[in-house]
Amino acid sequence: LSDRRVLIAGNWKMHGSLAAADAFAYRLGEHLADRAAPAELLVCPPATLLERLGSKLRPLKVGLGAQDCHAKPSGAFTGDIAAPMLPELGCRYVIVGHSERRQLHGEDDATVRAKAEAALAAGLTPIVCVGETEAQRESGAAESVVGTQLEGSLPSAGMLVVAYEPVWAIGTGKNATQADIAGMHGFLRRRLGERGTVTRILYGGSVKPQNAGEILGTSDVDGVLVGGASLQADDFWAIAAAAPAR
Ligand code: 13P
Repeated sequence: LSDRRVLIAGNWKMHGSLAAADAFAYRLGEHLADRAAPAELLVCPPATLLERLGSKLRPLKVGLGAQDCHAKPSGAFTGDIAAPMLPELGCRYVIVGHSERRQLHGEDDATVRAKAEAALAAGLTPIVCVGETEAQRESGAAESVVGTQLEGSLPSAGMLVVAYEPVWAIGTGKNATQADIAGMHGFLRRRLGERGTVTRILYGGSVKPQNAGEILGTSDVDGVLVGGASLQADDFWAIAAAAPAR
């Protein structure tokens, strides 16, 4: 059980400034001075803030992750960031295959898998994201879509984290029901069981302080991947504080 420590991960997406990063770390530090972290904490800011935020989070023992990486270790790829560049900045994790990358940058399962392999080769833990659209859920295809994504996106071996983020629940304030979350996480757990490594499964999509307790209390949920509510240290902390003891 200890290797399935609850993981509370923040994905800042394309938000934040140096001032916001400093304020976030300062406030999180105040909370951590009062109470030890109730779970493993991780923040994934934009690449521009990795170094600055990382330097402030390191003494707090809060982890740092990136939001994406390229599949190749170096090369003529203007604007991209290679996985081996990330550990130097203090990253231990990298998100790959977020639905916004899949939808807005045309990333398919093979691309996501290549990125996850690159992350592992660089010594990073990939957080591989999967999730169905509203139309796919309504047509009853959620499990088959997510199962196909999982099969196509996962590297063949290595320690990773999987994040289930139903596309229709991201940034919408819409929540999956506890039964839907338990159902999909149970399905993922069975599929991942065949890998033989312990894989934490996070839920993401409109996770807020108000619903974090219920979501984190759902079976087979090992943590959350939080977008909007991770930008404010007080909200991020309130979500972490809802983590059940393990
Ligand atoms: P929101 O929490 O803003 O819905 O975003 C979820 C998400 O996409 C995290 O990766």
